[in-house]
Amino acid sequence: MSPHTKPKFKNPRAKYNFQGRTCSVAGVGAYVPSRVLTNADLERMVETSDEWITTRTGIKERRIAGAEEYTSDLATHAAQRAMANAKVKPEEIELIVLATITPDMPFPSTACLVQRKIGAYRAAAFDLEAACSGFIYGLEIAQQFIMSRTYDTVLVIGAEKLSSIVDWKDRNTCVLFGDGAGAAILRNRPDSHGLLTAVMGADGRKSNLLFMPGGGSRCPATADSVHNRMHYLRMEGKETFKNAIQAMQTAAQEALARCEIDITRIKCIIPHQANRRIVDALGERLGAKPEQLFVNLHKYGNTSAASVAIALDEAVSTGRVQQGDLILLIVFGAGLTWGAAVIEW
Ligand SMILES: CC(C)(COP(=O)(O)OP(=O)(O)OC[C@H]1O[C@@H](n2cnc3c(N)ncnc32)[C@H](O)[C@@H]1OP(=O)(O)O)[C@@H](O)C(=O)NCCC(=O)NCCS
Repeated sequence: MSPHTKPKFKNPRAKYNFQGRTCSVAGVGAYVPSRVLTNADLERMVETSDEWITTRTGIKERRIAGAEEYTSDLATHAAQRAMANAKVKPEEIELIVLATITPDMPFPSTACLVQRKIGAYRAAAFDLEAACSGFIYGLEIAQQFIMSRTYDTVLVIGAEKLSSIVDWKDRNTCVLFGDGAGAAILRNRPDSHGLLTAVMGADGRKSNLLFMPGGGSRCPATADSVHNRMHYLRMEGKETFKNAIQAMQTAAQEALARCEIDITRIKCIIPHQANRRIVDALGERLGAKPEQLFVNLHKYGNTSAASVAIALDEAVSTGRVQQGDLILLIVFGAGLTWGAAVIEW
């Protein structure tokens, strides 16, 4: 580069002298179950309407896993697709980070179950719980291991079978969520800056806005806990809505500032796919053009940790993102947690 050419953006990691090492997304993959649950189907289950769900959320349908199909199965399909796209063999994977709030069971980790299903026996494996923000938390963890040269190849997965914790009698929540999985293989790639920065945040003072009371050490499963519907998620919709927009805006602006770029430089903005009104309000606050925003929530609803991973896979496979483009991922979830990441594709 000529000394007079202004650099395209600042790589915030460069000051740590990683000697040219980067953390790039070498391949992505996604999987959603085949069963479609439409708004018309929900009209037959609870007091709701397609009109209400569409205008308040933008969601038209969501995917529901079969009774014998678990989070580890969804995760395995997505992981195998990401591995094929990245041309990575199971024995090359050194770490599996799986973000979920719906593990197959409390332990062992679903990451270990996936390790077995894909045959990645060299890999360390663990689950990560940051609710809907889990995929960005996972990317940042993977990046730390790759930049420090601890590992060369890391598999990050966001996978959920939310249908297993949704109260199908509660119209306030059951219309919002769906099942699915997305995965990424992260590696050092000399011709790309890769993951430029990832902002992560949390506010445990607002843990009461979105939670599941039963099933943990505080309220183990009993006949009473089942009777009182404690094993389903609960949410304060309005407060969650307000916090989501604010936290995602702040995280995105911080990520852009670290890279010394403005929103116009971003080719594709992929926000957490929870609610169309949240996406639109966020886009407006960031000063983004509608065509910069990637939205597929009408097809899948909110798939929590899988949400931005599924959307990223679709953005890549449909050609919305080309090598060299800048992508902005933005997430928000229970905890509360939030995050934003800038990636050079
Ligand atoms: C849940 C959400 C869609 C509700 O939209 P809203 O505009 O805030 O709606 P309100 O809560 O004001 O509810 C309005 C009315 O619709 C009713 N309602 C709720 N769900 C309904 C449904 N599925 N069908 C029909 N009516 C419904 C409510 O009972 C309420 O009725 P009331 O006024 O008689 O009490 C919205 O708050 C939201 O998206 N919140 C964030 C959710 C989220 O993203 N969570 C995950 C974060 S990771």
